[in-house]
Amino acid sequence: MSTPVASLASIAQNTQIAPDIYLMEIESPEIAEGAQPGQFLHLRCSDTLAPLLRRPISIADVDKRAGKVKIIYRVVGQGTQLLCQKSPGDLLDIIGPLGRGFPMPDKGKTSIIVGGGIGVAPLLYLAKELAGDETNGHKPLTFLGFATKEEAFGIDFLKSLGIKVEICTDDGTLGHKCFPTELLKEHLKEFQDKSKITLYACGPKPMLSGIKGIAANENITAYLSLEERMACGVGACLGCSVKSSKSGYKRVCKDGPVFEAGEIDL
Ligand SMILES: Cc1cc2nc3c(=O)[nH]c(=O)nc-3n(C[C@H](O)[C@H](O)[C@H](O)COP(=O)(O)OP(=O)(O)OC[C@H]3O[C@@H](n4cnc5c(N)ncnc54)[C@H](O)[C@@H]3O)c2cc1C
Ligand code: FES
Repeated sequence: MSTPVASLASIAQNTQIAPDIYLMEIESPEIAEGAQPGQFLHLRCSDTLAPLLRRPISIADVDKRAGKVKIIYRVVGQGTQLLCQKSPGDLLDIIGPLGRGFPMPDKGKTSIIVGGGIGVAPLLYLAKELAGDETNGHKPLTFLGFATKEEAFGIDFLKSLGIKVEICTDDGTLGHKCFPTELLKEHLKEFQDKSKITLYACGPKPMLSGIKGIAANENITAYLSLEERMACGVGACLGCSVKSSKSGYKRVCKDGPVFEAGEIDL
């Protein structure tokens, strides 16, 4: 894991890509150099004291050659509202890359990615890295769920990488009318030897909990990325702790945000 850096980085792009969802491109060669899929940036959204705390947003793509990092965020409150008002050329106070990202699968394993809503964002960079992993030999399968067609994003990006994408929506306006966990269950039937699968997921807690259950039943290794509210973002305040499935607690910012499914209580 690379050492996080604190930097004032220039915004290259901040574009709305769906209702309340924005894609921001940030110029930061130092962060781009070491960023791994599943890691996040801790952003100061304002130059004033409100909001006081930084906001964690996952890295959605990296262009190491151009020294740029992309994030995709949903406007839900004060911090993200301030973020979406920023323009190209504005400076952003960032610490990153932070946290423990997704481990790459063992050689020869089939990777299956399951994303729900804004949780799809970190999985785009993961999918790109997995698709480019020559040693593995095959591209990941991707199952994505959104509330409606209007909220869907990332599909063209994945298809441009030659990745097979299955979509579902809660209201059936795009793809299948079901949850991504149901798509996953259906497709798992096609695999005779499920021990050769590695699952990766990010999305709402009920979806992650469902995937944890499926992985346990089928004896599949699964890595889940959690999104808890955070304060310090660097492991010092314990504000983001979740219950460990063994004993005690794990800090999402430092021990995660990606955990092996068996490590945490959901
Ligand atoms: C490791 C990590 C990665 C994340 N990656 C992304 C990402 O790529 N894109 C993205 O849009 N969001 C992501 N989030 C969530 C994002 O951090 C919050 O949406 C953001 O901090 C909200 O800030 P705000 O000031 O706009 O809203 P606030 O005013 O702080 O809160 C508004 C509403 O959002 C809820 N909320 C706030 N934070 C969270 C959270 N962490 N999880 C669930 N609900 C929350 C609050 O309970 C409240 O209802 C991530 C969170 C974590 C921990
Ligand atoms: S946010 Fe402080 S320990 Fe994780």
